[in-house]
Amino acid sequence: MFNRVAFITGASRGIGRATALLLCRAGYDIVVASPEVEKNEEVAEAIRACSGKALTANLNLTSLESIKEAFARAYQEMGRVDVLVNNAGITRDGFAMRMKPEDWNLVLQVNLTGAFHCIQQVLHPMMRERYGRIINIASVVGEMGNSSQANYVSSKAGLIGLTKAIAREMGSRGITVNAVAPGFIETDMTRGLPAEIRDKMLAAIPLAHLGKPDDVAAAVKFLASEEAAYITGHVLDVNGGMYM
Ligand code: NAI
Repeated sequence: MFNRVAFITGASRGIGRATALLLCRAGYDIVVASPEVEKNEEVAEAIRACSGKALTANLNLTSLESIKEAFARAYQEMGRVDVLVNNAGITRDGFAMRMKPEDWNLVLQVNLTGAFHCIQQVLHPMMRERYGRIINIASVVGEMGNSSQANYVSSKAGLIGLTKAIAREMGSRGITVNAVAPGFIETDMTRGLPAEIRDKMLAAIPLAHLGKPDDVAAAVKFLASEEAAYITGHVLDVNGGMYM
């Protein structure tokens, strides 16, 4: 029996790293993909220490060439990709009125177009296997909107639409496609926020604390599992009740 292989974008830190380590403990081999070459290697070492097989990929989602190369290497070295976690994401916040075209384009390109191109790399092989799990990391703001994040919100709402479109297209092929929509999670992405914004967000969370990367990883692990075979096109909120 072979181990299932999970390809995780943005696995160098935060939610992606936590997901890589949790899936490793659940018996998956992992492709650790991000542009942060050294950090990728650290995560891969941690995976090997938990006795999983790990491959690192220097992945830049703004380049289709880089995406194709990373997946080609993954199939060559690991033989298969059973689970794709589109986790990498960036923000370039600012009010819509003043948002620069390059900030709009970059966020859409990394968060949405990049994820789509990754999905394209795995569809054929997954169809052949008649098995696949695609999990897109969206965001609560993709469901409820947020001021000063028009680019990010649009990318995450787009990711939810993409999830449902591919779920319908691939349903008969044994491939499930779902999204996880985290709320306010303690990572590098949120650590830099001003105290005033942090406090305001905390006040809106019924569970009254921030989430941890492991909270999101647990949801991904479930959707990746054999037990989640009859769930597709779903958006699983991991937000402490911030949006319901
Ligand atoms: P993070 O900032 O800690 O990590 C982002 C990851 O994306 C890193 O591995 C980084 O190397 C990678 N990345 C950045 N640019 C890239 C590119 N051009 N090509 C490939 N990889 C690239 O972020 P965090 O907080 O772990 O977030 C992970 C996902 O969860 C993101 O999609 C984010 O939008 C989403 N999310 C995070 C929330 C939070 O509160 N932290 C809330 C809701 C969603």
